[in-house]
Amino acid sequence: MMTIRVFPDYNSLCRGVADLIGAHIAKNPSSMICLASGHTPLGVFIALAADVTAGRLQLGKCRFVSLDEWIGVPPENPGSCRAMMKDFFAGARIRDEQIHFFNGVSPDPESEANKMNELISSYGGLDVMLVGIGLNGHIAMNEPGTSFYRHAHVSKLSPQTIEVGQKYFSGETSLSRGITLGLRHFSDAKLPILMANGEKKAGIIRLSIHGPFTEQVPATVVQKIPHAVVMLDQTAASAMPRVQL
Ligand code: PGA
Repeated sequence: MMTIRVFPDYNSLCRGVADLIGAHIAKNPSSMICLASGHTPLGVFIALAADVTAGRLQLGKCRFVSLDEWIGVPPENPGSCRAMMKDFFAGARIRDEQIHFFNGVSPDPESEANKMNELISSYGGLDVMLVGIGLNGHIAMNEPGTSFYRHAHVSKLSPQTIEVGQKYFSGETSLSRGITLGLRHFSDAKLPILMANGEKKAGIIRLSIHGPFTEQVPATVVQKIPHAVVMLDQTAASAMPRVQL
């Protein structure tokens, strides 16, 4: 059974996620790490960068890989997944050679996915994989119906993901496909963390943890990963049958 931890608010949640990741890295300084872009983990990035600045955390030997990227969106577009990590990488003093990201404007997105699969397997899999959850239950760009056994691949985005995804961009942006790590990467990671905050996520969190195990709700994959850790704030946990602080 996965571990579920509920925190009183977003700040304490982010501190808890950063501590979990930091403890893993302290034991495994050469970790391969995948951190989600998106709004959910922004506070975790601030906490991790503060730990680096304070000398409590060393990331100099870690490698950082992409979780996902919008196809057709260049890395310099502020709404790209790569650009959303920029402040974290700078603040945590991560060097360019430590970073391996999907290129959303590659002429051959399939080969971007294949290269990433090779890189991750050459390191023996991911150490830490931190993901958020979409309102339709997606993890990264693994949309409803995606096999739990897939590695990195090119995905067709659901209408809801295309609509919600506009929030990252300053103007209307054409989105239709993405490159994403797969759910198999999540279940194989040594420390798979699913993080959610806010009332908007409460319904999908309940369904993912207590609903039927189905590829129609990709996040239900956590139900079969005994070492997965689900980190929630109280509002994201508010629709669950039992909430423990
Ligand atoms: P969010 O995105 O962190 O911006 O809510 C999560 C997701 O869609 O996976």
